[in-house]
Amino acid sequence: MALKASHGAAYSRVEGIGAAIPSRVVDNHEMTQYIETSDEWIQQRTGIVERRWAAEHETVESLSMDAARRAIERAGLTPADIDAVIVSTVSHMLQTPSLAAIIAAKLGTDGAAAFDISAACAGFSYGLAQADALVRTGAARHVVVIGAETLSKITDLSDRGTAFLFADGAGAAVVGPSDVPSMGPVVWGSDGEQADVINMSRDWHQAVEEGQPSQITMQGQAVFRWATGFIADAARRTLEASGLTPDELDLFVPHQANNRITDSMLRHLKLPETVTVARTIKHFGNNSAASIPIAIDAMLASGEAKSGDTCLIIGFGAGLVYAGQVITIP
Ligand SMILES: CC(C)(COP(=O)(O)OP(=O)(O)OC[C@H]1O[C@@H](n2cnc3c(N)ncnc32)[C@H](O)[C@@H]1OP(=O)(O)O)[C@@H](O)C(=O)NCCC(=O)NCCS
Repeated sequence: MALKASHGAAYSRVEGIGAAIPSRVVDNHEMTQYIETSDEWIQQRTGIVERRWAAEHETVESLSMDAARRAIERAGLTPADIDAVIVSTVSHMLQTPSLAAIIAAKLGTDGAAAFDISAACAGFSYGLAQADALVRTGAARHVVVIGAETLSKITDLSDRGTAFLFADGAGAAVVGPSDVPSMGPVVWGSDGEQADVINMSRDWHQAVEEGQPSQITMQGQAVFRWATGFIADAARRTLEASGLTPDELDLFVPHQANNRITDSMLRHLKLPETVTVARTIKHFGNNSAASIPIAIDAMLASGEAKSGDTCLIIGFGAGLVYAGQVITIP
């Protein structure tokens, strides 16, 4: 008897997208209570006017559930159709069990495979790459990919370098089989030599020993240089790998890290004005793995994006890690 290998769909596609936006609106004026700053400085340096933080009743789990339910419903599926759940988060406070396993059960899947990934702000694109591979190898038919964060809980509100930037939220996509190519090749990688550019201030033991929380630290200018140089070119390589040209794109949805980074990418990519560019950081802040699906969801709601659009996405962040692909909007 010969060993059997699995075979899946010829192609994969995003079948549905959903988002969950926390209810607490935190504007730049509120920021001035925590750090020495101004509305003008934050807007000028980042494009952020306000961000969302989880209210007391909202958690990384509840936001994930809401986003996933919406994505499944929009895909025209039920939780029983889901074979795998992937959650990308850095703010689920238990290292084990995974948030994905909890979500898979609470959604009502039939014991779907479930795992978390740690790829920070690149997590949604990392998750899509995983889902694409699972669907095309036949390991799963429908996969839920969730990017979810409550970064407000791990941000030092007295830190002038990060307090105004980070935010909360969740976004989800269902990936399933397709007859035609609807997701381009992933272009991804890492640079662990720059691990200390964005990291957590302490490990668990240090936090206990020192009686201090572990919070995000960031060398803003180093991130900025990397994002406007290497990552801008990774976005260009992602588009090139898809076989498309800039004028064939409808949407560009980079991780909502900072509008100045987005501007710099646009100059590098030389996208025509017909391409609509995500600027949802203005109202939602930088919510890491959640930012790309939240941006797509918001742009669908506002009419800036429509079903069938061709969209270049790229995530990048702590690791340092990055991943991008071209997808067809469901
Ligand atoms: C974080 C970031 C906005 C900070 O801007 P910056 O220009 O590097 O800030 P600097 O620390 O060099 O400080 C520049 C000036 O702004 C001031 N400043 C710094 N933080 C400030 C704040 N929160 N509010 C007001 N002023 C501030 C400094 O005092 C300094 O003033 P000076 O020129 O009078 O001395 C910028 O580095 C950045 O966008 N980096 C990328 C970060 C990112 O996208 N991360 C997400 C990756 S997932």
